[in-house]
Amino acid sequence: MKYLIIGALGFALSGCASIEGAQAQQGSNSYTLPALPYAYDALEGAIDAQTMEIHHGRHHQGYVNNLNAALAENAQLAATPLEALLANAGQLPAAIRNNGGGHYNHSLFWRLMAPVGQGGEPSAALQEAIVRDFGSMDAFKAAFNRAATGQFGSGWAWLVVADGALRITSTPNQDNPLMDVAPTQGAPLLAIDVWEHAYYLKYQNRRADYLTAWWSVVNWNEVNRLYEAAR
Ligand SMILES: [Fe+2]
Repeated sequence: MKYLIIGALGFALSGCASIEGAQAQQGSNSYTLPALPYAYDALEGAIDAQTMEIHHGRHHQGYVNNLNAALAENAQLAATPLEALLANAGQLPAAIRNNGGGHYNHSLFWRLMAPVGQGGEPSAALQEAIVRDFGSMDAFKAAFNRAATGQFGSGWAWLVVADGALRITSTPNQDNPLMDVAPTQGAPLLAIDVWEHAYYLKYQNRRADYLTAWWSVVNWNEVNRLYEAAR
């Protein structure tokens, strides 16, 4: 599908160390944890340093380790690029679906955040599309927040491009919109992790407060780049 190809190109062309970490070594049966593009305490105010350190260093590292272990047991899948694996998630062993999704989702999530004041603003083209498809920026944020708060249990909320239009969706566990099993498929532009491990230390059960603060650290520069690659 077009968006899968574009998405893969976007990653390949990004030049971002974190994405190289997510995508490099395909075929070598060994994925690696990408470095964060900022310090653990860089998002303080929205996400505390301890949460970032545990989330990146333990949870994401765990997905990488478990993905590599699962691919070692399924050698026929080891040479397949990650996006192509995820596009056939419905046929994958659960360990590859869950940990491959976890690695992809977190590698994207880190890039989609930046310290307060460093994330830029939505581009004119993206703002125009948001108004076209959601009515206003406020309406878009409200709809995105509803998807994130409404995701029962662990999962993610997403803004994607699908067939030229912006759409909001959510997925359980480590599923994502690249997957054939996703209710809405498309090229991800924005994502928020609403697993409790993403916010519980600072916000406990107050997922809505985490969401409110999170908007202050969205890296719109990266969202804009993804939109230009996908539209
Ligand atoms: Fe997470």
